[in-house]
Amino acid sequence: SNSLHRDQLLFSYKGILYPRILYSPEVFKALESFEARRDDVILAGYPKSGTNWLSQILNDLIAISQKKTPGSESSVNAEEQEEFPYLEIGDSEKYERMSKLPSPRFMVTNLCPEKLPKSLFQNNAKILLLIRNPKDVATSYYHFSNGVATVPSYETWDDFFTDFMAKKTAWGCYLEYLSEWNKYADKENIMTITYEEVKENPALSVKNIATFFGIPLTEEQLQLVVERSSFQSMKKNSDKTHGSFGNVLFRKGGVSDWKNHFTEDQSKKMDKAFEEHIAGTKLGKKLKY
Ligand code: A3P
Repeated sequence: SNSLHRDQLLFSYKGILYPRILYSPEVFKALESFEARRDDVILAGYPKSGTNWLSQILNDLIAISQKKTPGSESSVNAEEQEEFPYLEIGDSEKYERMSKLPSPRFMVTNLCPEKLPKSLFQNNAKILLLIRNPKDVATSYYHFSNGVATVPSYETWDDFFTDFMAKKTAWGCYLEYLSEWNKYADKENIMTITYEEVKENPALSVKNIATFFGIPLTEEQLQLVVERSSFQSMKKNSDKTHGSFGNVLFRKGGVSDWKNHFTEDQSKKMDKAFEEHIAGTKLGKKLKY
């Protein structure tokens, strides 16, 4: 991908590139006025770390907390559905409208903590922080970049990898993202979960997430959430939930596909960067790497 292509699609805000189609400096600025609530349900994750997956799990848990059946028509709050769940995507008046929404409000953010409104941390809003092996994030991102129009596409994996490591891709360096979030990882209102652990033990993960947000679950409800959030069910249902984007989004849904992409040398480069940025930290130790 050449730099002209990149300039057309991405802009830089406080040192990080973002897709122009989705974001604007005005909305980033307006976001600072957002008032978080103690009972907000917030999912934080870098793109391609499984945010759509965990979003569905959280939406189902919220439905259950409101005595609704996950997946049923009535489980969707019409008012809230109108607001795109991505906190930083929308128009500058979005935060004013969100202030009138009933609790619990659900939102997702792809931003680093220092780009998020202070109230998120001051008001002790509960945040589920989702992390994934950076090699699998890069692999997923490469395929995503060739399936959507929001970010530059790449002819080869090698070109993508070079840009990804050089912070020339949107949302910035994933390892820096992790080390920024690591500063918050000890807070009791933040729960960290890995993509890999949800994959390995979905029932236990859903249970832990529900406990963190204070949502009681029957065994039957737990099974329903787990069943609905399997890769197969979500992929099958994706034309309803994500339209044509579903084909790009629900790609493989597994662990270690990076082994089919990384050369030995690329793997070593990522290992070195991992060591430098994150290996010895709390998040680094938690990552299945
Ligand atoms: P792959 O490209 O490795 O398949 P995000 O939602 O943050 O954009 O992340 C997308 C990644 O999550 C994709 O990874 C996608 O397949 C995976 N994913 C989506 N739903 C999933 C599910 N129910 N179970 C496991 N992985 C899922």
